[in-house]
Amino acid sequence: MNVLVVGSGGREHALAWKLRQSPKVDKIYIAPGNSGCALVGECVDLDVDNLRSLARWARERGIGLVVPGAEAYYVAGIVDAFKDSGIPIFGPNQAAAELEGSKIFAKNLMRRHGIPTADFAEFEQLEPALRYLASRPEGPVVVKADGLCAGKGVIVCRDLDDAKAAVKRMMAAGEFGEAGRRVVIEELLRGQEVTILALTDGKTIAPLASSQDHKAAFDGDAGPNTGGMGAYSPAPVLTDQLMDEVVERILVPTIHAMNEEGRRFRGLLYAGLMLTAGGPKVLEYNVRFGDPETQPVLMRLESDFFDLLLATARGKLADQELKWSDSAAVCVVLASGGYPGPYEKGKIVSGLDKAAERPGAMVFHAGAKSTPRGEVVTDGGRVFGVTALGPTIKDAIDRAYAAAGDISFAGMRYRTDIGKKAL
Ligand code: AMP
Ligand code: GLY
Repeated sequence: MNVLVVGSGGREHALAWKLRQSPKVDKIYIAPGNSGCALVGECVDLDVDNLRSLARWARERGIGLVVPGAEAYYVAGIVDAFKDSGIPIFGPNQAAAELEGSKIFAKNLMRRHGIPTADFAEFEQLEPALRYLASRPEGPVVVKADGLCAGKGVIVCRDLDDAKAAVKRMMAAGEFGEAGRRVVIEELLRGQEVTILALTDGKTIAPLASSQDHKAAFDGDAGPNTGGMGAYSPAPVLTDQLMDEVVERILVPTIHAMNEEGRRFRGLLYAGLMLTAGGPKVLEYNVRFGDPETQPVLMRLESDFFDLLLATARGKLADQELKWSDSAAVCVVLASGGYPGPYEKGKIVSGLDKAAERPGAMVFHAGAKSTPRGEVVTDGGRVFGVTALGPTIKDAIDRAYAAAGDISFAGMRYRTDIGKKAL
């Protein structure tokens, strides 16, 4: 069977790499892909925003499964565009993708169905938002743009002045465009964050191994939020008992809520959770695999990933079984100097072969591309996700950092404390 993966990040390299391990997969196409995807399959330069022509191309090439990576495709309706093609496509349709496409929709869904999340208020106008802030007790709040902002639409505010400034940036200055026209203001939750990725066909839910992302740019969780500077799996803070609670109070009710509201969810449900003193609460839902969490999670998966995704797309997830390695996995993101702010591209990369030879190591490419001369050069903010398996989390950390140390490019920067919280 031929498979098409849509996207170009580290997550997409990991998805394609894992799919390639299935004996049922003949050929993988990645549109548009990157230098890492090119090691696994054929990168194709398609107009991925033209969904109808993408579906036509897939039919002509005999594609048997389509796996889009990023939320923007789902929110734009990629699954709906393939509906009449007869080709199975993994992920939620446009109505179900609203769970990530609108934070106001997601928060109200949780409120209507009693799913634990931070208390919140929503606003469409600047003045009422400012009056609300002035009327609430002093203290930290989180201001969120309603729409998609590539992970940048959340501002954690220490005090009232911060919060007013955040609301003005979104609703008056229009810094986040249309996505920031409506906002959510919510209480700040305290605790450890964990990510649960769960496959679901709308009837069965199969949670994948737990993981933890590192969103802040610098060591010790300092600095601005990024797309994620590293991740590890499993997350030992999530005990079996807490996991049962997450399934019972969050995952199952979410899938039921979506069914009840006529938006059956199929695909990958990403629950970003805060483990608070009052139990796990939802920080956010995403409707696709996390990046970089997918990299360490898939390193540990021993089941046939193609079977899992196809069964999910076909509504037959109940027949599948998930098998995990007992090893731990750690992913360290190598970023361009300046990221998440402005950065330069086109820096020549060295040491990739040496890093790949390290025991248990795998280098996933993200913002990286090959030149006609065969060099790999930087092409984005997060450039590689250097990932390693090890018998313990400590071994996995040491292996990932050893491999990261082999790689270099001008301006390269990474956090040195990925996985520390799990020790
Ligand atoms: P989101 O895109 O909603 O996950 O927000 C990005 C990050 O902001 C999360 O991973 C948290 O670190 C932080 N965050 C979001 N909402 C809250 C909250 N209510 N309390 C504390 N931190 C939050
Ligand atoms: N790692 C965060 C995300 O994928 O949204």
